[in-house]
Amino acid sequence: MVNAPIGVFDSGVGGLSVLKEIYRLLPQESLLYVADSGFAPYGDKSCDYIQQRCEQITRFFLAYSVKAIVVACNTATSVAVDGLRQWCPVPIIAMEPAIKPARLQTKSGVVGVLATTQTLCSANVNRLIAEHGKDIQVLLQPCKGFVELVESGQLQGEAVTELVRQRVLPLLAQGADTLVLGCTHYPFLSQVIRAVAGEEVTIIDPSAAIARQLQRKLAEHDALAQGESVGDIRFYTTGSVDLVQAIISQLWAGEVRVEALS
Ligand code: DGL
Repeated sequence: MVNAPIGVFDSGVGGLSVLKEIYRLLPQESLLYVADSGFAPYGDKSCDYIQQRCEQITRFFLAYSVKAIVVACNTATSVAVDGLRQWCPVPIIAMEPAIKPARLQTKSGVVGVLATTQTLCSANVNRLIAEHGKDIQVLLQPCKGFVELVESGQLQGEAVTELVRQRVLPLLAQGADTLVLGCTHYPFLSQVIRAVAGEEVTIIDPSAAIARQLQRKLAEHDALAQGESVGDIRFYTTGSVDLVQAIISQLWAGEVRVEALS
């Protein structure tokens, strides 16, 4: 069990922002990453569609006897995780927009949440706002187009800046001093988001917190990998292997080999 891999997945390459933090914190763990790029983006698909994709990927991981699964996708979390937890025999660690930490950080009392339409409409986000957003104003900003930019490796440049300005400036105009990155693709745009928002604005990326949560969960189950050797990382995609391999190598900042997952 301790040497079993951990499965991490996203609709595409966005979950690499979480995978990087897991690798940084737990380098001895073996990791399997699935980029479901053949079916991305999830953000404007139906709940049924996303649930089916998540079930299929979970079964793939279970066939590899993973010891835990990280759903490195806010959209998948918001519509599919409750269902997966009902039958999946291993712990599932999942994302949610960091509205609670944002409430503790904001001074203006206005927080902007950047996420996909599907995440922002979900019962999960409504619950987070009901629990942690009572005495603050929470502005929900769907960021159509951001996922596609990251999936095509476009992280900078005029077109990126223009789209980020369109999504972020209205939040600043309404007084937001804290921005929550509620989609795992968005940390890859954080340089541009920072440049547009300015140094005074707090930008919350929950990836490192998710890695710590995984560490706690594995420790609770006595399942942390033992020994000093660095674990393997294997990448799979349902999309075009060549394209995804090029983008993952860019985002991972090193050549990786991607295998096809049909
Ligand atoms: N990375 C996913 C998320 O965290 C992106 C969703 C999509 O594919 O639209 O929500």
